[in-house]
Amino acid sequence: MPKDVIIPMDFSSARESYDFLSLFPAGEKPFVKIGMELFYSEGPEIVREMKRRGHKIFLDLKLHDIPNTVKKAMAALARLEVEITNLHAAGTTEMMRAALEGLTRPDGTRPLLIAVTQLTSTSEARMQSELLISAGVEETVRHYAQNARRAGLDGVVCSPLEAAAVKAACGVAFLTVTPGIRFAGSAKDDQCRIMTPEKAREAGSDYIVVGRPIIAADDPLAAYRRCAKEFLASPSV
Ligand code: C5P
Repeated sequence: MPKDVIIPMDFSSARESYDFLSLFPAGEKPFVKIGMELFYSEGPEIVREMKRRGHKIFLDLKLHDIPNTVKKAMAALARLEVEITNLHAAGTTEMMRAALEGLTRPDGTRPLLIAVTQLTSTSEARMQSELLISAGVEETVRHYAQNARRAGLDGVVCSPLEAAAVKAACGVAFLTVTPGIRFAGSAKDDQCRIMTPEKAREAGSDYIVVGRPIIAADDPLAAYRRCAKEFLASPSV
């Protein structure tokens, strides 16, 4: 299972993203996440250009619509040849199956497809009072992950604190992609449920998404290398 550190391109323009990435030496190409802000500002060309520059890409567009629309949208995204893309598990297993079908290219290959279970910005209280989901947030996340697995998806985005429970429910090969990572003793920013890179590895995260601890660091390259070292180090025996 390839583990890696993913840096979100939380910038409003292509120029800012490329300026940031120019801090890295030519031979070091971090795995990047392109989200809605950058994709909607710059269009698919930003994905093609990142590919040309040699980056692996997690295209984080969180699709959620009727199955037929998601299937067709995924077919369009498949042509961008990213490594990972995603959708909302709330769209139901029917939508997730349609998405997989759309994402699968004529030669049978496809990007990895993962599901957002419940956004970490949704509190249990709001989930229950506004969405009328009476189960607890952890049970809901686990259940949505199981739906995603049944639909044939490759994994979920979740908090590193939920990674072990998701693995227990869906199997070790089911991927967990986890934001909410902070170095020991550093600022939490607006994240509440956080873990260090080392703890995330121990919890079973396959990919960690690390934004501000790298992007806002005085030396982003050193911060990225520290993160990769702590996350990818082999477990002590
Ligand atoms: O700066 P920070 O490390 O908190 O950035 C985390 C990244 O992961 C951001 O791009 C954020 O939008 C994303 N993310 C998250 N929590 C989720 C899903 C995505 O923090 N549940």
